[in-house]
Amino acid sequence: MDQKSPSEMTENEARAELERLAKILLQANQDYHGDDAPTISDAEYDAFKKRNAEIEKLFPTLVREDSPSEQIGAPASSGFGKISHAVRMLSLGNAFDDNDVEEFDTRVRKFLGINSGDVIEYTAEPKIDGLSLSLRYESGQLVYAATRGDGEVGENVTENARTIDDIPVMLTNAPDVLEVRGEVYMSHHDFLALNERQKVRGEKAFANPRNAAAGSLRQLDAQITKSRPLKFFAYAWGEISAPLGATQFDSIKALKALGFSTNPLTMVCSSPEELISHYRKIEQSRATLGYDIDGVVYKVNDLGLQKRLGFRSTTPRWAIAHKFPAELAWTRLERIEIQIGRTGALSPVARLDPVTVGGVVVSNATLHNEDYIQGRGSKGEVIRDGKDIREGDWVQVYRAGDVIPKIADVDMSKRPSNSVPYEFPSKCNICGSPAVREEGDAVRRCTGGIICSAQAIEKLKHFVSRSAFDIEGLGAKQVEQFYNDGWIKTPADIFTLRERFGQGLQQLKNRDGWGEKSATNLFDAIDAKREIPLGKLIFSLGIRHVGDSSGALLANHFQSWENFERALVNTTIGSGEAWDDLLSIDGVGAVMASSLVNAFQNEKEREAIDALITHLAPIDAVRKNTEGSPVAGKTVVFTGTLEKMSRAEAKARAEELGAKVSGSVSKKTDILVAGPGAGSKATKAAELNVMVIDEAAWLDMIEGL
Ligand code: IVH
Repeated sequence: MDQKSPSEMTENEARAELERLAKILLQANQDYHGDDAPTISDAEYDAFKKRNAEIEKLFPTLVREDSPSEQIGAPASSGFGKISHAVRMLSLGNAFDDNDVEEFDTRVRKFLGINSGDVIEYTAEPKIDGLSLSLRYESGQLVYAATRGDGEVGENVTENARTIDDIPVMLTNAPDVLEVRGEVYMSHHDFLALNERQKVRGEKAFANPRNAAAGSLRQLDAQITKSRPLKFFAYAWGEISAPLGATQFDSIKALKALGFSTNPLTMVCSSPEELISHYRKIEQSRATLGYDIDGVVYKVNDLGLQKRLGFRSTTPRWAIAHKFPAELAWTRLERIEIQIGRTGALSPVARLDPVTVGGVVVSNATLHNEDYIQGRGSKGEVIRDGKDIREGDWVQVYRAGDVIPKIADVDMSKRPSNSVPYEFPSKCNICGSPAVREEGDAVRRCTGGIICSAQAIEKLKHFVSRSAFDIEGLGAKQVEQFYNDGWIKTPADIFTLRERFGQGLQQLKNRDGWGEKSATNLFDAIDAKREIPLGKLIFSLGIRHVGDSSGALLANHFQSWENFERALVNTTIGSGEAWDDLLSIDGVGAVMASSLVNAFQNEKEREAIDALITHLAPIDAVRKNTEGSPVAGKTVVFTGTLEKMSRAEAKARAEELGAKVSGSVSKKTDILVAGPGAGSKATKAAELNVMVIDEAAWLDMIEGL
């Protein structure tokens, strides 16, 4: 770069340069945190920041109000307020082929106890590839617009949403409270024109319309959003004070009547065959629609049935997304690299000669594990006709939706004659510890544990991730820096940062980009997370097999940290009441249960967990809708044939009302609901003096709740 040295600048030049740098750095931050276009390199970013700091030092009176040196972490998101969704914003389960669609229908029927002779209607509509937005109207006025965020808390983008023509700011004849949900997207035409403009201005082009829409909606300056042509399709609702209709289809029609754009390809179908045929029609028109879609969404049409079907932890039982097949491209695999995950897994990654797959440049693909590289699947079956993957091979890459690209095939005719099979390492490439593969584990793992810096860093990244502690200003990049500086080695260290650096702030302050204000902001953001919902806390511990929805299930079951911890410390793997209790949780199997128990009974892990907990105040899980419920906290067992509803529906309903549903009768059972044909469970319940009632009595008991 041919740039003037700050010491040679006039005041005007310095002012102009600070303005230019503020703009570049703001954009770079947004690119990095706002998951839109590819970002500038870290080295370039640091160089810009350094130059900015030098000029500020020489011209202290010119320091801008929005000076980039005052900004840390994720200004793009920190600039927006947070909004808690009144009704959670969920995602959808996926179907990848016709068979999955049939199975979806079968599951719905089974849950509702509706046999194949009776029609269940579904709607089918395009799945828009944009980003979801929730619009809340009170007395017809738009009061806020919020992004999905983690599903519970999103970002307040009201000012930006107001600039979108498809979003009415006032409604007439709307329910008092109405949350309209839908997708913000950009048309192909507008996307191409925007990228042209970006090019002319010397700014970066967006990788695809979805990223352009996301980057445009999440602008701190609403004027920028206004200049970007965004559109909105309404397809669902959240909180609502009066129903819009009796069916999904009628409700969407009502939204249209209120002034929203709804998708014209929405249709009511009466069988899986009709759904699939509508899917094919939409798939054929895909190229001419003028906007990106990545599948077709099916929803049970009758809202009464939707209500009965309810939700799993993160997805509704009454809807599914039928995805379009993955897009494919051929390219050369340059190298295989190994990454170490937070649980020590050695994950092979293919570094590819960059190639465009469905509009996105792909330069990496996952290779899963050593068996996969050798041409074997997770159950030892032959995959890719048994072809192995080698460095230098021509490979076919595919991506389906947002998932990490994968390798579908290898072109053996192009394999170089001197190529050799890939030899999977038996040592960790970071800490040098042996990497071993245990019986039954598809993955080879580094045995270094806490001494392996890669594992420690990945654990920390997981800990601060969005579904875990989500600390403002402390993202993956920052924890990695802090780890390398020796400031944070374990999650507990995060909570002593103020204690250790708060007084003299010197060290933090002198760091690139860490002013006194930003350091204090960080400490405050950390303090704000000392109170943490139990489910998030459990997830954040990074225990193998425990994902965010499992965290929520466990929290719901144990309710408090004390209960959870006590149970795990006292559980013996494979037997006993505590073990049975763990397995009685719907969604917890033996693999996850063992992993949990191992974590709490391993000395080192326990120490780390104990150290962390001393700094926290976990928030107990409260079961929803259980006020006034006579079955809250009760352990219920269903046996025999139920006539009014399926076993699955009975269980889901009981859990909603705060009951714990178990598969076997024990001393802990409070109620046995016995239908005709109840056998040994009824006998055992009688022996143990457990209350036994029939289905009708059970329904009476929970009626009206
Ligand atoms: S319904 C409770 N309908 O897909 C279900 N979602 O993978 C609410 N999406 O987060 C979603 N088009 O952002 C629904 N026609 C459509 C959609 C759609 C796109 C997105 C939405 C959702 C994601 C789930």
